[in-house]
Amino acid sequence: MAERYDVIVIGAGPAGYVAAIRAAQLGFKVACVEKWRNPKGEAALGGTCLNVGCIPSKALLASSEEYENTCHHLGEHGISVSGVKLDVAKMVARKDGIVTKMTKGIEFLFRKNKITWLKGHAKFFGEDDGNIAVEISGDGEPLLVGAKNVIIATGSKARHLPGVDVDNVLVCDNEGALAFPDVPRRLGVIGAGVIGLELGSVWRRLGAEVTVLEAMPAFLAACDEAVSKECWKIFTKQGLKMHMGVKIGAVEVGKKSVRIDYADASGAAQQLEVDKLIVSVGRVPNTDGLALDAIGLSTDARGFIEVDDHCRTKVPGVYAIGDVVRGPMLAHKGEDEGVMVAEIIAGQRPHIDYNTIPWVIYTSPEIAWVGRTEQQLKADGRAYKQGQFPFAANGRALGMNNAEGFVKVLCDAVTDEILGVHIISANASDLIAEAAVAMEFKAAAEDIGRICHPHPSMSEVIREAALATDKRALNM
Ligand code: NAI
Repeated sequence: MAERYDVIVIGAGPAGYVAAIRAAQLGFKVACVEKWRNPKGEAALGGTCLNVGCIPSKALLASSEEYENTCHHLGEHGISVSGVKLDVAKMVARKDGIVTKMTKGIEFLFRKNKITWLKGHAKFFGEDDGNIAVEISGDGEPLLVGAKNVIIATGSKARHLPGVDVDNVLVCDNEGALAFPDVPRRLGVIGAGVIGLELGSVWRRLGAEVTVLEAMPAFLAACDEAVSKECWKIFTKQGLKMHMGVKIGAVEVGKKSVRIDYADASGAAQQLEVDKLIVSVGRVPNTDGLALDAIGLSTDARGFIEVDDHCRTKVPGVYAIGDVVRGPMLAHKGEDEGVMVAEIIAGQRPHIDYNTIPWVIYTSPEIAWVGRTEQQLKADGRAYKQGQFPFAANGRALGMNNAEGFVKVLCDAVTDEILGVHIISANASDLIAEAAVAMEFKAAAEDIGRICHPHPSMSEVIREAALATDKRALNM
């Protein structure tokens, strides 16, 4: 065995690189295996999130929002502009620059924390003298390393539709959809989930005519129903065309366009012709070539590695975190699991409350929530109260021309404990953090109502919604 470590982490996405850093902080000798290569062919840390997911999509969302504001909303501020031009190549290059900065940042953090980056593909090689053996195949000869503890953080990959080849030119998953060379005139999106809505919004704002085809009859079924209804209204008004309850048939890829045959909700045959198609129908856990069986592990029927509440697999010393295990496929959930596992290895007793993990969809306005939805509380048979407050009655939101949306607070009818908070607004991703903190501390709606919030600020709407659960909102 070439080298022994205390901890080997497989995968350097948000779950893996954070696990590696926390383990190093706790004094362990750590290696992290990562094989990712960027479009220039250079080895890169950061996984899907930094390279082709959260970070680049947010860069393009911001750019497209600037463009839309400049073209359509500056007039309301009394600012007139003319001759607005769009340089997609520059926009994409800016996004690529941010990705490079962030991935290089992790390289710096690895050096700072003395984490060894093993470049290549990891596969299990059985046990050797009380260590779990891992073989790394990189550029040179395969390398055999071992550790008492191994953390699997291999993430997920885009699910593709059977019979629909993704070439990332005409038919794209998240990777291709972040690098269009210009704005497609007609863009089709299959799947009205997180990725479809985020990327559909980007290209719509830049001028594409976007049509979204979704299999489920209900729109954004995971959200609180009041939020999904509001989103439907806002997104369709913005110009997104959305067809629910469809059944996708043949997808014909031509030289310059794609034709999609589908049955609409009534069963009638329909056809859609687009210049680009994004397939965003979910992601599947990635355990390709890991040789889990070499250490007696396997995946469940859906491809996930089975773990307990503390991310332990059934093999002592082997943990799995992030998208490759149960729970939401969210970067921050993986990060928290990475910290938890490193601390467990160090003999600490950390714990994650999965109910207080916030969800965010980065559309415009953003959607964010934490805890239970109203329909879940009904199904639970829980007696609850609710309060809702619109951003249209908030001075800061009006001043910023961001007065769409609302905050909805759900709390226990007897104890007043906050059970769920749902936000649709600009910067909902930042606002939701207050609700997550409150729920971690088991706060009552009254607690938020009694806490001084800055004025004028968007955060006042959370306080007003909390007060509204007791019918005592001040500005309504
Ligand atoms: P998703 O699960 O959010 O949405 C996929 C959608 O495709 C669903 O609405 C599903 O009903 C629909 N669908 C499935 N098969 C279909 C078919 N044959 N025809 C039409 N529609 C079909 O998955 P998405 O958007 O691909 O994202 C993948 C994962 O990445 C999610 O689990 C999400 O949590 C994560 N992610 C999170 C982000 C965030 O936190 N903002 C951003 C991007 C991704």
